[in-house]
Amino acid sequence: MNGNGVHGKTTLNGKTLSGTGVNGKGVHGNGIHHVSVNGSLYPTKAKSRRQRWEVKPSEMANNTLNPIRAIVDGMKITPNPDKPMIALSIGDPTVFGNLPTDDAVLQAMKDAIDSQKYNGYAPSVGYLKSRQAVANFYSCPEAPLEAEDVILTSGCSQAIDLAISVLCNPGDNILVPCPGFSLYKTLAVSMGIKVKLYNLLPEKSWEIDLQHMESLIDERTSCLIITNPSNPCGSVFSKEHLQKILKVASRHCVPILADEIYTDMVSCSCPSMASLSSDVPILSCGGLAKRWLVPGWRLGWIQIHDRNDIFGSQIRQGLVKLTQRILGACTIVQGALEGILNNTRQSFYNDTISFLKSNSEICFNELSTIPGLNPVMPSGAMYLMVGIDMDHFPNFKNDVDFTERLVTEQSVFCLPASAFEYPNFFRIVVTVPGEMMVEACVRIREFCQCHYRPRSRDSNDLDQ
Ligand SMILES: Cc1ncc(COP(=O)(O)O)c(C=O)c1O
Repeated sequence: MNGNGVHGKTTLNGKTLSGTGVNGKGVHGNGIHHVSVNGSLYPTKAKSRRQRWEVKPSEMANNTLNPIRAIVDGMKITPNPDKPMIALSIGDPTVFGNLPTDDAVLQAMKDAIDSQKYNGYAPSVGYLKSRQAVANFYSCPEAPLEAEDVILTSGCSQAIDLAISVLCNPGDNILVPCPGFSLYKTLAVSMGIKVKLYNLLPEKSWEIDLQHMESLIDERTSCLIITNPSNPCGSVFSKEHLQKILKVASRHCVPILADEIYTDMVSCSCPSMASLSSDVPILSCGGLAKRWLVPGWRLGWIQIHDRNDIFGSQIRQGLVKLTQRILGACTIVQGALEGILNNTRQSFYNDTISFLKSNSEICFNELSTIPGLNPVMPSGAMYLMVGIDMDHFPNFKNDVDFTERLVTEQSVFCLPASAFEYPNFFRIVVTVPGEMMVEACVRIREFCQCHYRPRSRDSNDLDQ
């Protein structure tokens, strides 16, 4: 076999050639053959030869845009030297060291390394026993899962990438929440897939505006993306709302990509989309990153919940083929997966949830008494969105300007929600230690008091 994984010998003018001289590159059973029958091995076409260097990034590279980077990189992040920086912007629960993973998770990883069993390549879809572990962990009577319904991936991001790639062709469109996690659009646009944003309603705890969503569906809509619980909103949909979403999908025969990476990180009930679906096929994407607090380990999964055999073998085979492009999840973490899922203590999950809930309450209670700010109380994930009454802050052009000045004056960095296509809001990550959360709120209050201006109508009211 040669370096490209191509077997075989090549004949030229009756002579058998083998080895790297001819087929070290480029000779392929698919009919691509670089050997000239005129005797010259590598004929040169003078006219088509390039005269000068011109190496340019591909269209795909040019069309790949991460809006968070685009916005954050353009911001002037210069903290006030007199105040230590508090970054409430990064969705990585490990950055402050206050939320270590469970000991059982670490032990499973150590055991996997020590066993020396997981140093080789795994099957492209993951080890069978690790897929089985995910299936056992999430299977329920309403949405049963077998190992063959699970594909292991490099983080939930790759799960989303594979799910979009298997369901959509260039020119198709997908429906994505607004505000929403930016990766969906980043991936889709780079693949020539159009993105239509459906509105979430802050006044209804970020429920979907179902009429708006339905109005966007057309014959080229290849999937609805539902993020529940939500990044950036921290919202969790009720069972009734999920059922209504499923009805829309069912009416238009559109499958659902359910991003459920924050599932079970909730302070209320949060049924999975699949457990409520009787006819809509669902690809549910998840992983270890958030619930087990190990985002760097890059282990995610797709759960295939096929209803009425609609995905059938074709979508399954499509997913398998896509996993064969680049092997996904790290084998050591795959080896540890069964131990992680089976041995993590319930108290670990409970402690994380109570910590996030307590921080969300501190933040919400504080910010809701600050004139000009309108926080929306979350019930899951690790985020809280805050609306800014821009009319009351005439010193600032928009949310980007507002959050930039908040860093300059108070050394508190929140992500402007323009990064989620939702201007005049900002997102707070609630994984920081409690005392930092309190301090951040004090500073946000000081900042707002300094810049708040009553509207002219309000001041007239006061005069009367
Ligand atoms: C909604 C959502 N989906 C997917 C991901 C990606 O997860 P992973 O780090 O496992 O790729 C994130 C990460 O922040 C997220 O917020």
